[in-house]
Amino acid sequence: MKAKVAVLISGAGTNMAALLYAAKLPNCPYEIVLVASNNSDAEGLKIAATEGVPVFAKSHVGLERAAHDAIMHEAITQSGATYVVLAGYMRILSTEFVAKWGGRMLNIHPSLLPKYKGLHTHQRAIEAKDPVAGTSVHLVTAELDDGPVLGQIEVAILPGDTANTLADRVKMAEYQLYPKTLADYVARDTNPEYLTAQVRKYAFAQPEADEVLSHGMPCFGIIGGKKFAYVSIDHHGDGNIALLVKISGIEEQAMLIDSDAERYHRPAYFGDGWVGIRLDLGDTDWDHIGDWIAKSWRAVAPKKLTKLVDVAAEF
Ligand code: GRF
Repeated sequence: MKAKVAVLISGAGTNMAALLYAAKLPNCPYEIVLVASNNSDAEGLKIAATEGVPVFAKSHVGLERAAHDAIMHEAITQSGATYVVLAGYMRILSTEFVAKWGGRMLNIHPSLLPKYKGLHTHQRAIEAKDPVAGTSVHLVTAELDDGPVLGQIEVAILPGDTANTLADRVKMAEYQLYPKTLADYVARDTNPEYLTAQVRKYAFAQPEADEVLSHGMPCFGIIGGKKFAYVSIDHHGDGNIALLVKISGIEEQAMLIDSDAERYHRPAYFGDGWVGIRLDLGDTDWDHIGDWIAKSWRAVAPKKLTKLVDVAAEF
């Protein structure tokens, strides 16, 4: 299953086009399900529409920032996208919008971040007599052009370069960097090491947790006590990656499976007291998974440990 990506643009959309063409290559792990813009005249919208990609435009003029973002968010959600990719989207985003897409929104910026946030990056690099300029892809956080850098390419500055000639070459680097970085990033969603590491983080947030390998599965328990979480990886060749946690019993199990049969299942050999939750569907809500793990820990933890946690929670 490919990751579904919405691309937000304001202008030419050449980075969007690079992402779109890369998506046509065999084995690309993402597909573009929407190109959206705050500018209905954006050239990139025509490219996307002609390529058969759904497009959406809504001008921000006359709207509060949060209201415009909410409209964009709605269109993105409707498209089924689980990632937002900013490609020359010339809008500062509201904190609400950034929070909704935390860890799932990428941006490309034409400098070697953390250098030269904001505008006129090429001119500033030339004036500073930097030997190299470049481009960065980063996760979007509340601060402008901040957030963890996922990838960069350096571009040598030529003698006689102007902001325009340099910008043209940096763009060529961008067309390489963005598709590759996005592909690597979304591939984490189905990567067993990444998914296990995520579970490990939440499991070890529980008191007295330890990890062993049980029947080939990474397995988390209470030191000297019972197990509360397993990661099932390609169990009997099912091709799936799932978390197994304790639940209250067969009724809760049936209810969950009823609510979403793709995500939840009855884990073979574990019985009624456990449920399997797919981690590799591309839309895993990790806070929710963290809650499942904490609940499962509580179900097996001795009273003296749960009491400690309850007392701590009161402060
Ligand atoms: C790119 O240079 C990108 O780094 C910046 O905006 C520009 C977008 O250009 N964020 P285009 O619309 O992709 O051609």
